[in-house]
Amino acid sequence: MKIRTRILRTAPVIVAAATALTLSLHAQSDVQTAVNTAFTKNQNVKEGKNADYIPALARVNPNLFGIAVVTSDGKIYTAGDVKTEVSIQSISKVFTMARVIQDSGPESIEKSIGVDATGMRFNSIVSVELAKKVGGGPELNPLVNPGAITATSMVQGKTAQAVWAKIIGTYNDFAGRPLSVLQDVYKSESDTNQRNQAIGMLMYAYEYIKSNPAQATDLYTRQCSVGVNAKDLAVMAATLAFGGRNPITGKQVISADNVPYVLAVMATAGLYDDSGKWLYRTGLPAKSGVGGGIIAVSPGKFGIAVVSPPLDDAGNSVRAQKAILDISTALNGNPYSGEGARAVATSGRH
Ligand code: DON
Repeated sequence: MKIRTRILRTAPVIVAAATALTLSLHAQSDVQTAVNTAFTKNQNVKEGKNADYIPALARVNPNLFGIAVVTSDGKIYTAGDVKTEVSIQSISKVFTMARVIQDSGPESIEKSIGVDATGMRFNSIVSVELAKKVGGGPELNPLVNPGAITATSMVQGKTAQAVWAKIIGTYNDFAGRPLSVLQDVYKSESDTNQRNQAIGMLMYAYEYIKSNPAQATDLYTRQCSVGVNAKDLAVMAATLAFGGRNPITGKQVISADNVPYVLAVMATAGLYDDSGKWLYRTGLPAKSGVGGGIIAVSPGKFGIAVVSPPLDDAGNSVRAQKAILDISTALNGNPYSGEGARAVATSGRH
């Protein structure tokens, strides 16, 4: 009798635990299925072309294709080549911006650079001229080159070495492992970055950059040449998805309060001239780089990254955009169609 009572009492607990386990296993297999399906579906997409204005990027294997998704429990779901490194390029701008926001506050970026989408190409000089024209107010953002080089100049440190240590240290913390510069890319980009040097100088002339524009441009070039694979990028994205805490290492890299500022700029300007289109389709704050990577963040749900070098006319990886959209749709990742909102709508409550 006693035993029977105990069984009756514990049975619901066991059933609940089993259900939770089944649900979590079910959710896990859903994520892997979504990743596999997107990989297979987009593997043979042939549109786009490697960036070639930096000679080293033209030499990267265009067939490289890797997908990684990181969830809150630190699990990593992958398909394809998630080990081969490409240069992080413009995706680096997100994490330098995060460093500046963390050290100097969100208003420092807003006042010194601006947080408006320019609607122009990432290395537009016209956007700098227009920003000065419109009442002298800042109309740039840290994800286009003029703003990004300025953000790099705002990272604190007495010497170039000290500033670099801060930048790479931040990237390492986001990725959860030590990263290094791809020297061939750094050299190739340094040999051909005259336009960025001009932008750095112009930003100095207009007093956005306070001193040493050549150092800022060189460090910016170095940060763009950091090597990352799809897994690294997904962990970096996931750290932003989960309140600034790296879900693999457990390290709080930036404070949770600062994450929304970073995500807001990614949402408005992460895919350059196509940012609006991207946000319309996915709802996801994201960032692309001409090395072929794109990261995207579904806050509280997952961080995702895809690496595939061929780019469209706006400079965004073709396969990466398609694969992220497919996976996020399968996992209900769009924050604007959150489950809470759907639950209220379907329950008929007003
Ligand atoms: O400034 C540049 O030209 C590159 N280092 C980075 C550009 C980039 O990744 C733009 N991306 N879509």
